Amino acid sequence: MCGIVGYIGKEPLISFLLNGLSKLEYRGYDSAGIAIHKQDSIKVFKAQGKLDNLRSLLKGNEEDEKAFIGIGHIRWATHGVPNEINAHPHVSFENKVALVHNGIIENYKELKEELTVKGFVFQSQTDTEVIAHLIEDCLKDTKDFGHALRCALKKLDGAYALGVLFKEDPETLYAAKKNAPLIVGLSDKGNYIASDVPALLEYTKKVIYLNDLEVAEIKENSIKITDIEGKILNRKPEIIPWEPISINKMGYKHFMLKEIHEQPDVIRQTLFNRLTNQTDPIKLDEVKLTEESLKNLKRIQIIACGTSLHAALVGKYLIEEFIGLPVDVEASSEYIYKRVVSDKNSLTIGVSQSGETADTITALRLAKEKGSHILVITNRPDSTMARDADSLLPINAGFEVSVAATKSYTAQLLAFYLLALKLAEINKSLPAEKLEEYKKELLHLPHKVEMILNHTEEIKKCAIKFNSSKDFIFIARGINYPVALEGALKLKEISYINATGYPAGELKHGPIAMLDKTMPVVAILVPGKVFEKVLSNSEESKAREARMIAVTSSDDKKLESVFKYILKVPQTDEIFSPILTTIPLQLLAYYIAEFLGKDVDQPRNLAKSVTVE
Ligand code: AGP
Repeated sequence: MCGIVGYIGKEPLISFLLNGLSKLEYRGYDSAGIAIHKQDSIKVFKAQGKLDNLRSLLKGNEEDEKAFIGIGHIRWATHGVPNEINAHPHVSFENKVALVHNGIIENYKELKEELTVKGFVFQSQTDTEVIAHLIEDCLKDTKDFGHALRCALKKLDGAYALGVLFKEDPETLYAAKKNAPLIVGLSDKGNYIASDVPALLEYTKKVIYLNDLEVAEIKENSIKITDIEGKILNRKPEIIPWEPISINKMGYKHFMLKEIHEQPDVIRQTLFNRLTNQTDPIKLDEVKLTEESLKNLKRIQIIACGTSLHAALVGKYLIEEFIGLPVDVEASSEYIYKRVVSDKNSLTIGVSQSGETADTITALRLAKEKGSHILVITNRPDSTMARDADSLLPINAGFEVSVAATKSYTAQLLAFYLLALKLAEINKSLPAEKLEEYKKELLHLPHKVEMILNHTEEIKKCAIKFNSSKDFIFIARGINYPVALEGALKLKEISYINATGYPAGELKHGPIAMLDKTMPVVAILVPGKVFEKVLSNSEESKAREARMIAVTSSDDKKLESVFKYILKVPQTDEIFSPILTTIPLQLLAYYIAEFLGKDVDQPRNLAKSVTVE
C-alpha cells in the first residue's frame, strides 16, 4: 500500500527519496512522486507506474540532489484512477503547500464542497488534495506553519500519515499522523520521515514512532513534537533492533519462491527458545496473562484478515480440540460493524503479518475497550498492533517481501500450535504422553517441510497441466478446511485464476453443479478422522468428470483410481498436517503464476500492508 519518505539535511536528497521509496515498493503501488524545496519554490515530479518511470523522469535533474528538503510517495489508488494527476505529492491552489498522504479522509467530499465555494480549484480525484488546500486556507489566518497544519488536521475525519512542505518555510519538514503509521528518523546527517522502518534502516536506527494526533516540526538538527493543540511533548527516540534488510532474491526467480523455501528455518526460528525438548514445558513468556487468568478464560476470539484469517481458523480448531474452550474467528472488517461482545474474561487474539492492517487494528481496539486482554501474533514487533497489544507473540518469520504471504502464514500456524499446547499444559486437558508426542512431532516438522521442498517435480507437472484452467475448486474437511481456503486464495492472488475453497461436505449443497470435465478439484486428505469422508466427496466429484488432484500423505492404493495427480507430503499426525499440506498448494499457485508470466511478487491491485479500511 502507499509509502512515505522525507528528508531534511545536506546529504544527496533525490538519492535518499528514491532509495527510501524502493525499500517500500514491496508493499504494492501504482504511481510514485516526489516534491523538493528549491530556490523558494516547490518542484514536483510524478509518474504513473513503477519507480523506474519516476527515475527516468528525474534524469537530467542531478542539480536537485543539492536541495535541502523533500518528500516522496508511492501510491496505491483508493480515490481516483492510478495516473499522474492523482499521484502524490499534491500541491495547494497557490502552490504554498505540498504534501504526501497515506490513509483515507472520510469527510473529503464535504471539505471539497466548502473549499470549492471559497474558490479553491481541484486538479485530482483524490481525497488527499483537500488536505493541501485546507492547510493553505488555514494559512490565511496565521504565519505559524505548524499552527496552520494543526488547524487543518482538526477538520479531518479518517486516517492520515502526512509529510508536508511549505513554500515559505524552507527550513522545516512537517509530519503528522492518525491511524496510519509514521516514524521520524534522527541522525547527525539530518532527519527523516518514513511510513515504515525498511526505508530508513540504511540511514539511521534512531527513531521516534509518532502517536496519533501528534505533529512533528523537523529541522536539520532538531525536532519539535506537539499534540494537536500545539502543546510541546517530550518524546524520547528509541533504537530499532533491526539490521538493514537485505532485499535480495538470493538466486531465486521471485521473492515468493525464496520465502516458500525459507519455511523450514522459519519454523525452527519460531520454535527457538520456546520448545527445545519434548519433555520440557513450552515457554511462552510473551503471554502476559497469569496461569490463573488463562485457566479462567470463558471465551477466546481471534480476529484477522486474508491469509492471517486462515491461520486463525486453524488456531480455533487447535484450541477447541486441545482444551475444549469455545473460540470465535471473525474477519476484522466484519467485527468492527457489529455489536462487540467481549469482556475481561475473554482473550482476543489479533493475527497479522504486518501488524498494520487497518481493520484489525480497529477491531482489536474495540475489543480492548470492552476489557478483553489483547494478544497479538505478528511478524512485526515494531508495528502499531504490537505496540497496542497487552501481550505480543512475535513469529520470527523474517522480512516477507512478496505480497502473497507464505512463510508468515506457516509461522502464524506454529504460534497457534505453541499457544494451544501451552493452554493444554496449563489446563491439563491432554494426557501427558499425548502432549509429549505432539511436542516431539512439532520438532520434526522443519525436516518434513524440507522433504516437500526437495521434491517439487509432480507439483510443476501439475502446474503445466492446469495453468490454462479458468476455475479451481479446493476441498477439505476439519483442520485442513482452512488450508483449502488458503490454497484457493494463493492461486487467485498471483495467477488471477478464479478459485474457491469449500468444506468438502458442502460440495453437494451447491458447488457440485459447477463440476464437469474442465474443472480441476484439489482435495486435501490425510489419514485421520475425515480421510474417508473427503475421499468419498472426491469420488462424487470424479463421477462428475472433474479433474482430480490430491494433496495427501496416504499411500492408500484407492487414491490412484480417483486422482490423476497425487501431490505427496510426509506422514504426520492429522492435527499437524496443515503445516505440510499448505506447502504444495503454495508451490502450485507459484508455478502456475510463473508459467503464466504474472508479476508474482507484486500482483495487480494488491498491497502487502492494507493500511486503509
Ligand atoms: C496474503 O497473501 C494476502 N496478501 C492478504 O490476504 C493478507 O494476508 C491480509 O491482507 C492480511 O494482512 P496482515 O496479515 O498483514 O494483517
